[in-house]
Amino acid sequence: MSERSLDFLVRGEKEQAPVESEMATKEVNLTRVNELIAGCSEERWALIPLLQKVQSEFGYIPPECIPLIARKLRLFPSQVQGVISFYAQLYTQPRGRKVVRVCRGTACHVRGGKTILKLVKEHLGIEEGETTPDLEYTLETVACIGVCALAPNIVVGDRVYGRMNPKKVELLFRSRRAGG
Ligand code: FES
Repeated sequence: MSERSLDFLVRGEKEQAPVESEMATKEVNLTRVNELIAGCSEERWALIPLLQKVQSEFGYIPPECIPLIARKLRLFPSQVQGVISFYAQLYTQPRGRKVVRVCRGTACHVRGGKTILKLVKEHLGIEEGETTPDLEYTLETVACIGVCALAPNIVVGDRVYGRMNPKKVELLFRSRRAGG
C-alpha cells in the first residue's frame, strides 16, 4: 500500500473518539491479543485486517489493545484510534447481542417515529448509541431502512418490525420493563 493511501491515518489523528467504555466489561485476554498481533504483518496495510480480527475475537476493539497494535505497526496509538473512528463498523465499546435500530427517516418520523424512539429508550433504559449493562441490546437510529410503506419501523437484530405503535413496543420489550 502506498504512503498516499495511508493519508487517512493522519487525518484520523484529528478526530479522536472516546476510548473508555463506561460499562463493566469482561477482562480482556491480552495473551490472545498478542497472539493475533504476532500473526500479522508489520506493514501498515495490516492495520485494518488486524483490527477486524480483534473485533471478531472480542466483539469490539478493547481500548487496551490499541497501544499494542500501534507498537507492532510502528504507528501512534492516536493513528490507530483515528482509523477506528473513521470506520463505522469498528467499535471500541462492547456491543449488545441484539442491535435495535429505530428509523428516523422522514416517512417514519411523520408517522410517529419520534415517539417510538422515546418509548424504546424508556424500555431499554439507554440512550441512542448506548448498550444495556447486560450487553443484550445496543440502540441506534438509522436514516431509512427502505420499507417506508410500513412506517414507522424498527429493526431488532435482522428482523424488521413495521407499523410500530406503543403497544407493539411494549410487547417487544416487555421483559425489559419488568427488569428481565
Ligand atoms: S423512512 Fe423509515 S423506512 Fe424509510
